[in-house]
Amino acid sequence: MTEKPVALIVLAAGQGSRMQSDLPKVLHRLGGVPLVGHALAAGRSLAPETVVVVAGHGAALVQKAVAKLDPEAQIALQEEQLGTAHAVRQALPLLEGFEGRVLVLYGDTPFIAEETLGMLATHPSDVIVLGFEAADPGRYGRLVTGPDGLERIVEYKDADEATRAIRLVNSGVLAADAATLREILPQIGNRNAAGEYYLTDLAGLARAAGLRVDVVTCDEAETLGINTRAELAAAEAAFQARARAQALEDGVTLSDPATVWFALDTCIGRDAVIGQNVVFGPGVTVESGAEILPFCHLEGCHVSAGATVGPFARLRPGAELGGDVHVGNFVEIKNSVLDEGVKVGHLTYLGDAHIGEATNIGAGTITCNYDGVGKHRTEIGAHAFIGSDTMLVAPVRVGARAMTGSGSVITEDVPDDALALGRAKQVTKPGLATRLMQALRQKKGS
Ligand code: UD1
Ligand code: CA
Repeated sequence: MTEKPVALIVLAAGQGSRMQSDLPKVLHRLGGVPLVGHALAAGRSLAPETVVVVAGHGAALVQKAVAKLDPEAQIALQEEQLGTAHAVRQALPLLEGFEGRVLVLYGDTPFIAEETLGMLATHPSDVIVLGFEAADPGRYGRLVTGPDGLERIVEYKDADEATRAIRLVNSGVLAADAATLREILPQIGNRNAAGEYYLTDLAGLARAAGLRVDVVTCDEAETLGINTRAELAAAEAAFQARARAQALEDGVTLSDPATVWFALDTCIGRDAVIGQNVVFGPGVTVESGAEILPFCHLEGCHVSAGATVGPFARLRPGAELGGDVHVGNFVEIKNSVLDEGVKVGHLTYLGDAHIGEATNIGAGTITCNYDGVGKHRTEIGAHAFIGSDTMLVAPVRVGARAMTGSGSVITEDVPDDALALGRAKQVTKPGLATRLMQALRQKKGS
């Protein structure tokens, strides 16, 4: 079978009024990523030539989120939500000149499997609809099949009793050639119980035009759509359960799987050890054999082999830990590269910094990277020793093998091999502490 080029249309214009939210439904997060990101990620596996997201409610917000998730995706605006066929029509102008297979997905249906999409993309029928046998067919569109495939789809509102008894229902996902959509969509009207332009009418009209129309089925769990906060919470639980099972299967040790939270793109190497109550936000990679101790929060960061992190550490976007780096408790790292063997044991903030190999950062060190207006960089060379409670006022550079005295406020660059002290000189008054206490007690007593 020759594989045709693929385009994706992701429908995401609906308000999702049952979410009771000002945020468009598809921007609610699942596995740390907006719902629409899940559909886009699954669709990406087909290496589509074009991706179009149809936005309506909160379109500006949806557009902004989509630009981050998939910079190549385009947005088609559907100002009024007149139905799923109308939504797909809004996307067609952006597919001008495209002659291949178009897959239509929903932005609020995050669990669709890549294999299922592959099956739709390569199916030989002219129109191929993804259906499933519903435990409770509820208000889904019913798939009316005959001896040679799918005859038509009947929406619940328009179905008679006999049709409502059908348990094979429409997931909403379908695929057809661009040419077929261009020909048939304009024929779809809105004379039905909902007064909407139903994409589901494509099946019957394509068949009437002599085209081959078929169903493939998938597991009901893949087609789960999110309509309420309760469904979102249940979907999150299902997502996490799957992610945990996958991590275990991939050879990751999870000390207490139920307390570890993953994002859609979390990537953890074999033999990594993840302690209790660890949360992975988007964009984290942890290499083989690294260890994340309990109560850590990681996002947008990379942890190399042999590194240990936590307990109680926070790695923010742009934190890159080299091999065998040690990050201890109550340490926050943002947009900073720590070369191999760096140790940051306790109570430290490193932001916008580069720390050279094997350097030791003492407890309570802070890169003062923000002056209220701009962010500035701190550069520390290899084999340096930063004394406890050093304030590094950026922009500042500390050379290789250099040291800073404990409690220093470092405002000027420190050359290689130098020791910098930036603190008041100690003054010692013999016996003064006792005398002072006596005087104070006397004063209180009198
Ligand atoms: C649709 C199907 C139904 C199927 C069900 C599966 C139609 C007519 N019916 O019904 O057969 O069983 O999905 O969940 O297609 N959307 C837009 N613009 C619109 C209308 C909808 O972008 O004008 C988007 C929504 O945001 C949503 C998706 O399309 O992501 C589905 O719309 P929805 O109104 O939920 O369709 P259903 O009535 O559930
Ligand atoms: Ca729906």
